[in-house]
Amino acid sequence: MNALNYLKEQGKIRAIGVSNFSCTQLEEAAQYGRIDSLQPPYSLFWRQIEKDTMPYCIENNISILAYSPLAQGLLTGKFGSDHKFDPKDNRTSNKLFQGENFTHAQQALEKLRPIAEQHQCTLAQLALAWLIAQPQTQAIAGARYPEQAKDNAKAASIQLSEAELQQIDAIGRIVTDHLDESPIMWNWD
Ligand SMILES: NC(=O)c1ccc[n+]([C@@H]2O[C@H](COP(=O)([O-])OP(=O)(O)OC[C@H]3O[C@@H](n4cnc5c(N)ncnc54)[C@H](OP(=O)(O)O)[C@@H]3O)[C@@H](O)[C@H]2O)c1
Repeated sequence: MNALNYLKEQGKIRAIGVSNFSCTQLEEAAQYGRIDSLQPPYSLFWRQIEKDTMPYCIENNISILAYSPLAQGLLTGKFGSDHKFDPKDNRTSNKLFQGENFTHAQQALEKLRPIAEQHQCTLAQLALAWLIAQPQTQAIAGARYPEQAKDNAKAASIQLSEAELQQIDAIGRIVTDHLDESPIMWNWD
């Protein structure tokens, strides 16, 4: 933190951000300087930060820059149970793509489809629109192709009502209610 504070004082950086920090780690770092942003995993299907880290960020005005906001593409609805990833693709280790979690995700996606249709948008855009409607949250949407980036950017213009946000929230819980407390989205062993 000393080095980062020094760079900020010199005007070489404007903000200090951290990634994958727990609430306890944020509190500890904050003793030595101001943290401006946190980059956690966060999506409709992966919401561990909502318990204590997000309230801390809101209270301390720390921006949340959500990574894997599409649950690594799962929220696009394009992956069927027969999909085979390249063994080097880290989605082979993503817990959401495995077993019951994957089944719950497909059930949730089926319930999200009519809402996306009402808004004439894709499932990816709906998931991103829900995410950026959460307090202090922005999404770092990954894209393999330029078209994906362009499509994802359109999520910013989708307006969801309070009732729709709550409905989508409840649908996401079809997946998240069955997850354990681990903040790590992958089985790395
Ligand atoms: N700080 C950290 O520890 C950390 C960890 C992970 C990621 N990140 C960052 O977060 C960023 C995003 O995360 P992520 O890539 O893991 O997950 P993501 O944004 O949830 O998903 C990205 C994947 O979703 C699919 N996709 C995206 N837009 C699409 C669209 N419009 N239509 C169809 N498919 C679409 C693509 O899959 P296909 O490749 O199958 O086309 C793409 O690779 C990354 O760029 C990375 O830099 C940070």
